[in-house]
Amino acid sequence: MSKLVITGGQRLEGRVAVSGRKNAAVAMIPAALLAEGTSTIENLPDIQDVRVYQDIVQHLGVQMERREDGVMEINPAGFSCTQPPHSLVKKLRASYYLLGVLLAKFGEAEVAMPGGCDIGVRPIDQHIKGFEALGVEISIEHGVIKAKARELRGASVYLDVVSVGATINLMLVATMAKGTTIIENAAKEPHVVDLATCLNTMGAEIRGAGTDIIRIRGVKELHGCNHAIIPDEIEAATFMIAAAATGGDIVVENVIPKHLDPVTAKLRETGAEVEENGDYLRVRGNGRPRAVNVKTLPYPGFPTDAQQPMTAFLSIADGTSFVTETVWEGRFKHVDELRRMGSKVKVEGRTAIIEGVEGLTGAQVQATDLRAGAALIIAGLMAEGKTEICGIEHVDRGYERPEEKFRSLGAVMERV
Ligand code: UD1
Repeated sequence: MSKLVITGGQRLEGRVAVSGRKNAAVAMIPAALLAEGTSTIENLPDIQDVRVYQDIVQHLGVQMERREDGVMEINPAGFSCTQPPHSLVKKLRASYYLLGVLLAKFGEAEVAMPGGCDIGVRPIDQHIKGFEALGVEISIEHGVIKAKARELRGASVYLDVVSVGATINLMLVATMAKGTTIIENAAKEPHVVDLATCLNTMGAEIRGAGTDIIRIRGVKELHGCNHAIIPDEIEAATFMIAAAATGGDIVVENVIPKHLDPVTAKLRETGAEVEENGDYLRVRGNGRPRAVNVKTLPYPGFPTDAQQPMTAFLSIADGTSFVTETVWEGRFKHVDELRRMGSKVKVEGRTAIIEGVEGLTGAQVQATDLRAGAALIIAGLMAEGKTEICGIEHVDRGYERPEEKFRSLGAVMERV
């Protein structure tokens, strides 16, 4: 087990390029399995979740290899197995997309309940409700989802909650169903749109992605495609917050500034300067931040995945901030660790109340999930002295070469 040791107090400066979006990558890989030919995916991040997905699909008979230029080739010619290994499936949340893909391709699937970060109850009832509407019979036995369909028929599905996972899974399964599927109250996240674009390039007929009604007309066959994944807005948000938190001056490159509007707006409220320009954002910290209130919401609201880093940053704000988490009720595990570093934060129900302090002090802390790890990195960068973050394998699930990128900005950080 490795840990990250940070010596805090450095002002971050320089330029950093953001990798491809994790949550798009883990949908694009299973989508490529639907094709008859080889797909090439550009900007696929080199992160642990992608490596686990690669292991899973290789077990299913699919060839997936990164070329020297970084582009990933996915050739599903040998795809025949409908039972991905349970031990690997449990390592990540996005393995639920295998259900949609296996059903679309073979009409049956046996997939263990997905794993992923421990951030609250993570039901998949909306995925199941959608599959059943399309004619799938589903049972859950000993933690394994068994699904079978004689024929997939398009249907109307109204999602009771706005779910990214259910929206994408239904798009995957409906691409090759007979007739038209309508998803109402669909998630509008940019990676939903990115996946629809990729599937349409493969020959699918998906309209309305990015709005709350998506229409999918089933087609008989999909072909391989070339697709470049959109930038990771949460990695970008992490660097933006780090710049503001250290009084730094960073240019975050390879971003779509529009996708970061809610983060930009909040950082500006705290007093940081954010300049948008084409495909980069420049963020300058301006001393102690003003306290602000944050409420997480589905896109285009403030992203839940940036809540934990933001909570760390607000620990040093001038005044009291209220951060309300509406998406994941258990997403405050980082708070206990922040307290070890001197943060005055308490949680009441779904709200973290942060009474700003002038500074944090380094401590030994534990990353309990991916974005908790990102929050502790921000805290460690701000703190006086050394911070040791254990559980860094959670961070590796979603950040590509984190210590290398932070070090290039002047952070004093090493993995031991
Ligand atoms: C995805 C992201 C995750 C992000 C989340 C919300 C991936 C791999 N992960 O997770 O980083 O935090 O979107 O932006 O893309 N829900 C149900 N029933 C369901 C499905 C979801 O009640 O069948 C609820 C969840 O408990 C949660 C809310 O809906 O409260 C949103 O979940 P969802 O958008 O599905 O999250 P994921 O797709 O799992």
